[in-house]
Amino acid sequence: MRKILVIHGPNLNLLGEREPAVYGSATLAQVNDEIARLAKKLRVQVEFFQSNHEGAIIDCLHDCRTSMDGVLINPGALTHYSYALRDAIAGVQLPAVEVHLSDIHHRESFRAHSVTSEVCIGQFSGEGVRSYLDGLEFLVEHFSR
Ligand code: DQA
Repeated sequence: MRKILVIHGPNLNLLGEREPAVYGSATLAQVNDEIARLAKKLRVQVEFFQSNHEGAIIDCLHDCRTSMDGVLINPGALTHYSYALRDAIAGVQLPAVEVHLSDIHHRESFRAHSVTSEVCIGQFSGEGVRSYLDGLEFLVEHFSR
């Protein structure tokens, strides 16, 4: 069974209470439950990791590079400026899909650019929890290509 690492970046631990008009009312646990439910249907295994620290996310990617088959990542604000995270995603050579709850292309101008998507095989944005689910389906389809 393929194994997918689901990474949530900075501030996503506060989902449910953080700007609900932008990010929705689901908590991170509820988001993870939905991902886990779909993963079961798609017959893939998922492991979850959340951190507010760039280095911890990079360490997690390094540690999982041989035990995982793919990555579903919401890098939070690191999306827009973290060349270190970008290099880690490229370096571990796992297919990665970037997801965002909000529509980063139609918010503040600094959010429109993603430095991490350049090393990902796809990006899903603006659909709330559905962005994660679409991203997971895309990743699983990628495995069968
Ligand atoms: C986000 C969008 C980012 O711009 C923001 O910094 C986040 C969340 C999203 O899921 O919509 O923390 O990645």
